[in-house]
Amino acid sequence: MVSFTSINWPNRILVTGGAGFIGSALVRQLIAETDSTVINVDALTYAGNPESLAEARHHPRHVFEQEDIRNRPALDRLFREHRPDAVMHLAAESHVDRSIEGPAAFIETNVTGTQNLLEAAREYWQALEPAARERFRFHHISTDEVYGDLGPNDPAFTEETPYAPSSPYSASKAGSDHLVRAWHHTYGLPVLLTNCSNNYGPYQFPEKLIPLMILNALEGKPLPVYGQGDNVRDWLHVEDHAQALRRVLEAGRPGRTYNIGGRAERTNLEVVHAICAHLDELRPRPSGRHEALIQFVTDRPGHDRRYAIDDSRISQELDWQPQESFESGLRRTVEWYLENTEWVQRVQSGAYREWLETNYGHRGVAE
Ligand code: NAD
Ligand code: DAU
Repeated sequence: MVSFTSINWPNRILVTGGAGFIGSALVRQLIAETDSTVINVDALTYAGNPESLAEARHHPRHVFEQEDIRNRPALDRLFREHRPDAVMHLAAESHVDRSIEGPAAFIETNVTGTQNLLEAAREYWQALEPAARERFRFHHISTDEVYGDLGPNDPAFTEETPYAPSSPYSASKAGSDHLVRAWHHTYGLPVLLTNCSNNYGPYQFPEKLIPLMILNALEGKPLPVYGQGDNVRDWLHVEDHAQALRRVLEAGRPGRTYNIGGRAERTNLEVVHAICAHLDELRPRPSGRHEALIQFVTDRPGHDRRYAIDDSRISQELDWQPQESFESGLRRTVEWYLENTEWVQRVQSGAYREWLETNYGHRGVAE
């Protein structure tokens, strides 16, 4: 049973990337289910959307600061003015395909931005009085992609799996993880790291597999499956992830890493078929079944074959397990996209359409 009543639970949490997909789920939970004040720091790139905060957006315990983590003086001001007890760092460039098209932004935000945040946090933390220094936490949110990929029968990633990132995105996240550990070893900054698998759920920007497939299917557009569709991902519901992050912040040991997964490995083709089956039921196509829209297209360069998470540490040490099954979580996600057409229409801006042209325009169709 997860409880968030620990005496060490922070009053003031600075969340970076809190207008993104996972960050907004975390902020919604922190506002609805804890008494903490949230200082939400987000540059509002194409992926950030304050509307994803729903009721939390205008809550008196929610403070929004539109700032870029690449801007060090801005970060110093935030620490000075808001005096957080903890940082939860989610701001990042997060899409693998975009990192292949343009890696620079990934290095700037994910590596340099993280270094800025670490330095601003360190200076602030070192000046705190002893009890506050003891309580302070810097929680870095990372990905299972830093471990590279697995063959079909390889054991799942543990926290000891050596780093072997494949894409510019995962290399930049690996770089940020190393920096966070170095700030712990060198300066003693009380850090926590989490590495999780593929998140899904409401408010996900439709460049990622699940929302892209739902929205394309609704429009009767092709469903572009890379390669053979046999790459495997582990799917974690975003609300489960947010619960896990809270649990790690509350009870994780400084300097320690925790892997977080959904216990739901699926091939991409299985996921797309499942989405099609839900849509056949919820929104039948007069012209036939949705799976007829599946199109196998040129593969992602360097495409990781399989990710899988061994969650023994977080489950045994912190008593956390995912609560949502992939079947019901996916169903609820499909329903959410059907019901939230205004949110969907607003994110499908001109910039989004340009991205579809950049990423899919040049992909050949496999027979
Ligand atoms: P997202 O792309 O939906 O959101 C990222 C947020 O960060 C956006 O609100 C954006 O405006 C903000 N941001 C980007 N650059 C910034 C900058 N320079 N300064 C300030 N804010 C900036 O990402 P997400 O899917 O919510 O992922 C959140 C974190 O979790 C990332 O660190 C990502 O690497 C990690 N992660 C994501 C997944 C997943 O499946 N989505 C899985 C594992 C780990
Ligand atoms: O594993 C965690 C990672 O999961 C996070 O660190 C990343 O931020 C997040 O974007 C996600 O990375 P993936 O590359 O796994 O997610 P994506 O949704 O882009 O793709 C999932 C799988 O689906 C992957 O094997 C590629 C495939 N795919 C994706 C798209 C967008 C397709 O076949 N067709 C597509 O159009």
